[in-house]
Amino acid sequence: MERQRWDSRAAFILAAIGSAAGLGNVIRFPYVAYSNGGGAFLIPYFVALLTAGIPMLVMEFAIGQKNQAGAPVALGKLNNKFEFFGWWQVICAFVIVCYYAVIMSWICNYLVGSINVAWGSEPMRYFTEDVLKVSDSPGNLSGFSLSVLVGLIVTWVAVYLILRKGTESVGKVISYTVAAPVVLLIILIIRAVTLPGAMEGLNYFLKPDFVALLTPRVWIEAYTQVFYSLSLAMAIMYAYSSYMPEDSDITNSVLIVVFADACVSFLAGLAIFGTLGHMSLTQGVPIEEVAIGGIRLSFDVFPAAINALPGGQTVVAIFGFVFFATLLTLGIDSTFSLVEAVITAVADKWRLNKHRTTVGVILVMALVSLIYATRAGLHWVDLVDHYINSYGLIIAGIMETILIGWFYNTDSLRQYFNPISEYKFGKWWTYMIKIIPFILFVLLAGYFVEDIQTPYGGYASIYQWLGGWGLIIAVGVVSFIITKFIGKRKNKEIGKAVDL
Ligand code: PFF
Repeated sequence: MERQRWDSRAAFILAAIGSAAGLGNVIRFPYVAYSNGGGAFLIPYFVALLTAGIPMLVMEFAIGQKNQAGAPVALGKLNNKFEFFGWWQVICAFVIVCYYAVIMSWICNYLVGSINVAWGSEPMRYFTEDVLKVSDSPGNLSGFSLSVLVGLIVTWVAVYLILRKGTESVGKVISYTVAAPVVLLIILIIRAVTLPGAMEGLNYFLKPDFVALLTPRVWIEAYTQVFYSLSLAMAIMYAYSSYMPEDSDITNSVLIVVFADACVSFLAGLAIFGTLGHMSLTQGVPIEEVAIGGIRLSFDVFPAAINALPGGQTVVAIFGFVFFATLLTLGIDSTFSLVEAVITAVADKWRLNKHRTTVGVILVMALVSLIYATRAGLHWVDLVDHYINSYGLIIAGIMETILIGWFYNTDSLRQYFNPISEYKFGKWWTYMIKIIPFILFVLLAGYFVEDIQTPYGGYASIYQWLGGWGLIIAVGVVSFIITKFIGKRKNKEIGKAVDL
């Protein structure tokens, strides 16, 4: 069976940008930059891009494209023993997308709600009581929140429709889903910067605090942000690049993706802090109190900031709509990239029909994601996000760079991508791949120490801590079972020599 191809290199690059530029650019980057040196944060951010983001993305593109397969099979082709590490990434992608899809559902709810400004003067109450109907503890599922369930079904149907014909259908939607958020962000920025107070807000975001660069925390945050934002170590970039012909440029594509992703983050920072600055001035709340990141920014603070826009209900409705449409269009291509990472891995491993695999994988994901549509959903999103994102992801990154940097002829990859690429990378690339696991290890240790000192969220019980680590161990166990048992049996059944 012939492998699918992207229509053009542009389609591939756009899809990779779509995956990289996601919710993290809006709800994570502006806050992380603000609280870690403001304008000065650009220095560690740039260093992190140069020393980890760019080298790792080149590595993932090169391995996927060279071996024409998703992460497990591609890594397995380099060395039989590497396949497990590909599955680790795939399982993490699986776990992440199950709750990422539910966040998309919350956004859908707000998008519809923006028409009549359903959040009113109390967005947080609207979020927890009207949309999520949150229960008091993770163990208390108490049935579904109907509106979240409906949004979730819409999300999965959309993901199916987009992925239905693989690269062909993705190629068709990708130009819209990448361009739309940029246009929408520009609309938000234009509105924001022309408001009184906006400049103070931007000043908070951009004012450089060079002394902050002396604290390790700032550097840890920069690496984490780069890592998360470029969708690294999640099997995504392997899958996407495996649909390019083997001789396509790599380094140039990487630089475009990285640059575009950073631009989206920066634009989001302007929109967020401009609007917060205005709210701070008109409502008399100090900016420190409203400058936050994560789920509360999108569903509580930012709607409140939109409420403060001059011009009455219609203006609030319009800008609410624009903001949630931005999140939706940013998030949808990250969502389907995570799904595609799993589909490609499964279809490549067992040589399955791609369409049937797409249907099967989406159905399983949709079923698992139901847990987050229950009234305890928010508790579960919080817990799983924390453990899988800070630990699962970084552990995956450490493992893949140790493999390629220390147990593989790293330079042979460079000899593969340099001749086919416009920009040639020197020996520094090889050295960086060897050094990155140590950098990531410092991040991991930093998170671990922090978790022990301040239990997660300030309320974590020992059960939640155990649950989180149990989840990470489960990722390892499932990856092991797939690699050791399911893969072997199937390979024997089809009577082929194991080409992994
Ligand atoms: N890079 C995207 C974002 O910043 O939101 C989406 C994403 C993909 C996040 C993969 C996390 C991840 F592991």
